[in-house]
Amino acid sequence: MKRLLALTAAAFLTLPLTPATADPAGTPGAAGAGDPYFPGQGNGGYDALHYDLTLDYDPASGRLSGRADLAARATQALSRFNLDLVDTLTVRSVTVDGRPASYTQSGSELVVTPPRTLRDRRGFSVVIRYDGNPAHVIDPDGSMDGWIKTDDGVFNANEPQGAMTWYPGNHHMTDKATHRFTVTVPGSVVAVANGDLVRKASKGGRTTYVWNSREPMAGYLATVSIGTFDLADSRIGRYRVTTAVDPKAAGDATGFAERHPPVLDYFSGLFGRYPYSSTGGIVDHAPEVGYALETQTRPIYPRVPSESLLAHELVHQWFGNSVTPTLWRDIWLNEGFATYGEWLWSERRGAQSVQDAFDEAYARPAEDEFWQTPTADPGGPENLFHAPVYDRGAMTLHVLRGAVGDDAFFAILRAWVREHRYGNADTAAFVALSQRVSGKDLAGLFDAWLFKPGKPSL
Ligand code: TRP
Ligand code: ZN
Repeated sequence: MKRLLALTAAAFLTLPLTPATADPAGTPGAAGAGDPYFPGQGNGGYDALHYDLTLDYDPASGRLSGRADLAARATQALSRFNLDLVDTLTVRSVTVDGRPASYTQSGSELVVTPPRTLRDRRGFSVVIRYDGNPAHVIDPDGSMDGWIKTDDGVFNANEPQGAMTWYPGNHHMTDKATHRFTVTVPGSVVAVANGDLVRKASKGGRTTYVWNSREPMAGYLATVSIGTFDLADSRIGRYRVTTAVDPKAAGDATGFAERHPPVLDYFSGLFGRYPYSSTGGIVDHAPEVGYALETQTRPIYPRVPSESLLAHELVHQWFGNSVTPTLWRDIWLNEGFATYGEWLWSERRGAQSVQDAFDEAYARPAEDEFWQTPTADPGGPENLFHAPVYDRGAMTLHVLRGAVGDDAFFAILRAWVREHRYGNADTAAFVALSQRVSGKDLAGLFDAWLFKPGKPSL
């Protein structure tokens, strides 16, 4: 479900401008979505609509056997197209519209040539059978990403590039699609994914879990996590809360499910209704993983989260998951907003006020390296999750709030989630929206806080 092309004006000018109708044989789809931070991520020429993934995993051997049924739509006359899948997994067969297709694998690109050209705007289906022993990748910032093995299964977090380590797809964040996961594992472990648990059935010592993620999702937000979990699924207040907690997780997980509704009620009041059919979280025991992730509907944590971290990952469900950036460079639209959410929740529960949190972050001396990174341009993929993206991002929002007042500020946030629900939007769109809703010229403010290095004055 591609709503926006991730192309800069400059990249656009270098594209061949041949209209599809002039070439009935079609042309190959691009091997990437055009994101400078991860050039090979995503693919051109088609729009992924739905992934139906059937996975079988054995934690003891580390073996995954998978079948991916993809429903897609061509966005050009397509002679050939790519999917992102690392070649540590072996593709065994590919069909397109039920007919055998030829394919090659190299690096993280699976290249499929259908027996006949796919007509522009036509829907088509792809079935890919694959297997192997998935492994995580190491990101430019040195962290682990993807299919991360634990003592009892898998901690599966995929931001920014892990999705290609376990399923084939169009894995740039601009191509969202609905997902359904049918996962079979030994009866001693649980498989938990995004969305609603729709079925659980055991047979011959193995258990199959079916999870339906009915709202569109970017690949980096998908998860299939496996391990010894206590799985609980209940309705609490207005929410279906599904939690999976590793009994070995450090800290006290009592009441973990019950902690979600008050946070979600509070943020629904500020941002508009919670955008997903269920919520909850996955609490794994993964001391080797240094971060949590806002996996859609159900964040994943390497230990029982603090109240701040819980709020952070739940705010991402609106900012990041429902409204997703168009390029990785705009990551502050995720992390700055989620950090501001931490500040809001802290004040709400009577801990540190938003103003105190701002003052503390702003107190960094002007010579501090921190101020050299502009909020809206972290400079490269190695800085995606660095402090300026989080703290300067949150400070930017607080300064905006001060400039336009509370009413206009929260009206901007509500308009942002309403106008871009389940879609993508970039920093320029946020600047334009802020000016439209507030009726103020905010060019100077955003220039200092978003685009220029150096400590902005107040
Ligand atoms: N988006 C995550 C969060 O803030 C953080 C995250 C994802 C991360 N991938 C990472 C942090 C890799 C460091 C390294 O909730
Ligand atoms: Zn975050």
